[in-house]
Amino acid sequence: MSRRALLGLGGGLVVGAAAGAGATAAVERARTPAASAGSAADRTFPFTGAHQAGIVTPAQDRLYLAAFDVTTTDRDALVDLLRRWTVMAARMTQGLPAGRFDPASGPYDAPPDDTGEAADLPAAGLTITVGFGRSLFVGPPGAEADRFGLAGRLPAGLITLPHFAGDDLDPARSDGDLVVQACADDPQVAVHAVRNLSRAAFGTARIRWTQLGYGRTSSTSTAQTTPRNLFGFKDGTANLKAEEPAAVDEHVWVPASAATEVGTDAAWLTGGTYLVARRIRMHIETWDRSSLREQEALVGRTKGEGAPLSGGTEFTEPDLDATGGDGKPLVALDSHVRLAHPTQNDGVRMLRRGYNFTDGNDALGRLDAGLFFLAFVVDPRTHFVPMQTRLSSQDGLMEYLVHTGSGLFAVPPGVPDGALPTGADGTPALAPDGPFLGQALFA
Ligand code: HEM
Repeated sequence: MSRRALLGLGGGLVVGAAAGAGATAAVERARTPAASAGSAADRTFPFTGAHQAGIVTPAQDRLYLAAFDVTTTDRDALVDLLRRWTVMAARMTQGLPAGRFDPASGPYDAPPDDTGEAADLPAAGLTITVGFGRSLFVGPPGAEADRFGLAGRLPAGLITLPHFAGDDLDPARSDGDLVVQACADDPQVAVHAVRNLSRAAFGTARIRWTQLGYGRTSSTSTAQTTPRNLFGFKDGTANLKAEEPAAVDEHVWVPASAATEVGTDAAWLTGGTYLVARRIRMHIETWDRSSLREQEALVGRTKGEGAPLSGGTEFTEPDLDATGGDGKPLVALDSHVRLAHPTQNDGVRMLRRGYNFTDGNDALGRLDAGLFFLAFVVDPRTHFVPMQTRLSSQDGLMEYLVHTGSGLFAVPPGVPDGALPTGADGTPALAPDGPFLGQALFA
């Protein structure tokens, strides 16, 4: 069902009114997204729930992520933006136009409510996930300011990440007050979503940097096959998966006990998580000239099946004690898999959800390509910083990598099921007191 078909149903939105008696299957679908998993090409994921979508959701094929700077100091304007974003996201993720009117209707002398390029496309599994950067609470480093009265709500884990060995971070590709992660099976749908949210932010927030990603580099569900990254290796084999709810609880969702850890009141983040984003350029031309033996030794797995070099098949647990005839460990001491393995990291696991990127080339004809690393973690101080500290100084792969962008964001919990007001046609509609993502932060 395309947006245009939906639009044929017409009807302005009157908040609080009951759904029209003539509501068709299309509108029904928009109202009951959980029941409409659809085919891979036309699936929808629920927007509402205890947690935001786009985290344990089976990783879609495409990403468009945008970090924003808030350009106003008006707290009410920021709240208003988050409220509008919430309704727009609820609509677009269900395959509906972003605004009340479809792209080709509404007042003739006003810009259309929706930009239109996704009008004929299905929801394509779109999820929209919103997070808050440290600068929203305390201002950017060197220009500290409590612009919105939020300093007392800063969560303990929303730190300034340390400098890691080999970092070559571009400030123009790092940080931000807000982040929007749009994932979909169709890049046009993901870009349309961010474009319309950005449009709604005019005068309140502006895009600071963006990243397009393709070819997910992780599986977040056991139902998915393991994809490959630009080194040609399977990526996501040992990832935290949605089918391990106890492990997801432990390693992803922020517990209530973290709320007052640093003397601030961060109860609003309970049930949320942190998003770590790292733009990692991969020197693929050099990699492509290295032997298969070296490639496998650096990763610690076979290139074909992705099996650990200690033996077995893809999902066999690596035996880090196994040695070869020469007495050396089969999974090398400087291999990525050994250094990132939970047994070497105090049991830490993370939910990786990254994407490949290719952003043109440099003057020497080398691709500016790599892995846009995204991970959701319960606390970056325990679940990212120690591991990245070790990887950046000991991982043999680092010879082929340079981190060029970085962001850390606190991701609030979801908007509860049934909480969003609906209009006359039963679809999500804006209301002055409607719920929004991050509402507890501003309470
Ligand atoms: C371009 C950079 C990177 C590449 C090419 C890469 C590639 C890989 C590959 C091929 C695997 C094995 C398959 C799997 O279990 O998913 C893996 C595993 C893993 N990687 Fe990375 N990775 C990169 C960066 C990172 C970073 C920055 C971190 C975290 C700081 C990280 C954390 C992990 C973890 C936790 C595992 C699972 C280890 C296990 O439990 O066995 N990776 N990575």
